[in-house]
Amino acid sequence: MSKEIFNPTRFNKSNNPTFDEVLDVRMSRRKILKGGLGLSAMATFGAFGLAGCNSSSSTTGGGAAAPSASLNFNSIAGSKIDAVSVPEGYTAQVLAPWGQPINAMAEAWKDDGTNDAVDQNNSMGMHHDGLHFFPLNDAGTDGLLAVNHEYIDQNALHQNGSDRDDAGIRSSVDQVRKEIAAHGVSVIRIQLQEDGQWMMVESDPLNRRYTGATVMDISGPLANSSLLVTPFSPDGSQARGTLNNCGNGYTPWGTYLTCEENWPGYFINLGTTTAEQDRIGLDTSGTARYGWETLAGHADERVDEFSRFNVTPSGASAMDDYRNEANGHGYIVEIDPYTANSRAVKRTALGRFRHEGCTFGTLEVGKPIVFYSGHDSRFEYMYKFVSTAVWDAADAEASDRLAMGDKYMDEGTLYVAKFDADGVGHWLPLTLDGATTDGGTLGDHFDSLAAIILNTAGAADLVGATQMDRPEWCAVDPITGSVYLTLTNNTRRDETTGTNPANPRLNNKFGHVIRWDEGEAATDFTWDIFVFGSPADGDEATNLSGLSEFNQFASPDGLAFDNRGILWIQTDNGADEVTSYTNDQMLAVVPSAIKDADGNADTINSENQGELRRFFVGPNGCEVTGFTISPDYTTMFVSIQHPGNWPYSNNAAEETPVGMDLRPRASVVAIRKADGGELGV
Ligand code: FEO
Ligand code: CA
Ligand code: CA
Repeated sequence: MSKEIFNPTRFNKSNNPTFDEVLDVRMSRRKILKGGLGLSAMATFGAFGLAGCNSSSSTTGGGAAAPSASLNFNSIAGSKIDAVSVPEGYTAQVLAPWGQPINAMAEAWKDDGTNDAVDQNNSMGMHHDGLHFFPLNDAGTDGLLAVNHEYIDQNALHQNGSDRDDAGIRSSVDQVRKEIAAHGVSVIRIQLQEDGQWMMVESDPLNRRYTGATVMDISGPLANSSLLVTPFSPDGSQARGTLNNCGNGYTPWGTYLTCEENWPGYFINLGTTTAEQDRIGLDTSGTARYGWETLAGHADERVDEFSRFNVTPSGASAMDDYRNEANGHGYIVEIDPYTANSRAVKRTALGRFRHEGCTFGTLEVGKPIVFYSGHDSRFEYMYKFVSTAVWDAADAEASDRLAMGDKYMDEGTLYVAKFDADGVGHWLPLTLDGATTDGGTLGDHFDSLAAIILNTAGAADLVGATQMDRPEWCAVDPITGSVYLTLTNNTRRDETTGTNPANPRLNNKFGHVIRWDEGEAATDFTWDIFVFGSPADGDEATNLSGLSEFNQFASPDGLAFDNRGILWIQTDNGADEVTSYTNDQMLAVVPSAIKDADGNADTINSENQGELRRFFVGPNGCEVTGFTISPDYTTMFVSIQHPGNWPYSNNAAEETPVGMDLRPRASVVAIRKADGGELGV
């Protein structure tokens, strides 16, 4: 079952213009020459390591100046088994599954679900998602892996499922603490053994958990804002916990970015809601997603650990209730993996919404840094943040990494995307003087940048952003600088909502991947659609990219480039037309090598679709998500989230015997070649 079931209802009820005409973008080939990316810029980009590694520039694997890689594996068939599938000659290892202790405070994982909250607080969290490898040596055989844990499966987490009663009321303090502890991020040290297997270094001093309860700093426009005042943080400088950590990013200075996605569901307001809460879609009746707030006032409650999830205004001021608690969520969170005991920082300047991922654009010395982040909900928007500070390559080696985050991520301009016809687009600034569609400015509606950020989506409504088919992950081509974005699906795009040039399919069941090139001005870009998801037997109006059995896919979600120019596309699919053929999967393609007869960048079509190849298929029930690769490209790490009946053994490709029921465990999978060579080529 896809995690699609958790995706939010449409809350964007703005009347931004949609375009009735479905333009003939189906096979649109970009004839617009790309600008702004000279060789010097690319050489700079390749000089210090996309891997986020600050230990050595030699670990970058050649950088962007190298020619595009060429895929050298045969597309594998789809599969529907309780095991992963990889090409011939490849191996797949289960690494750091849910519940594996990361230090001596936890007891070993028990397959009957009886580990308690303390164990969970000191073990791998549940439902792995985005992840990134941070090398600790030049060979890339020793490093730190940061792993997101998006949400939980209460049936697997607890011995006999949730204690929740018919009214949604919880009774077990330990269960709720365990659930909060199963969320967040794990940072673990891993090492490659001589036998080609990776192992977690249990109890390494750098191992740590950031959970739904960990204290974090607030930085950027909302730091110390009255909007963040709670009884826990009277000066509005801190928030507790990070929740629903879905996609991820990393920075050029060696920090990890974790993205808070479907956080609104964890809170509830049973009283008067704010315009911002209405816009983002906070629950207003019943109980919140897991009902943590229903333990408020329990005799064992510590420091309002449960009460804080109920944001109903009940006291005289923000110091008397938790009305502002949710305002501390919805951000990009920066973590310094290399520094033990370092506090995570919520970078509010990058906007507050359901962040899927966070990806930095092509770096150029002396130019601002750009971060891209999509809002994953139907009809929501695509954003970019442009730093005020300009890039200094020496900062890649800074020892105080979070100070680099302060420098590049706290001050800048947040923009939202407007995709126009003819492959032209504009970035609209979300600033007090940003123009609104009614001829005024955002300053007519908001009294501060902090207020704009708090209601980022509401501000984006007013400036006329383009409603997208669920923006998920973003990735930047190291060869061309083009930015790719997955639009996973949107079955609610119908005749009433209309289509628009960037989202041209009604009932968009299978999703698409859009891409753009930044223009000379920070506000301009050009775009086209790289590939449309479809079943191979889809009709002419559906299978617009000519997909075949060997690359049919639906609901693209995870997306990443490696530094050789290979784009890895992961799926989170619930469409029967494709699930009947294969479980969720990961495909590979080298976009910079896909050119038309005139040598211009081309899209995937019936003539070149053999260049889009299936590389990996996950076990039954799972979603394949998260991507990172070792600096020498010999190990790839992906996450398998919410598998149905897996893993059976340390070998991720070993099938669970028929008739055996396992307590399923999300896990990292380490993919290697049996001969230890470079992956994919
Ligand atoms: Fe957590 Fe949008 O997937
Ligand atoms: Ca996702
Ligand atoms: Ca998804």
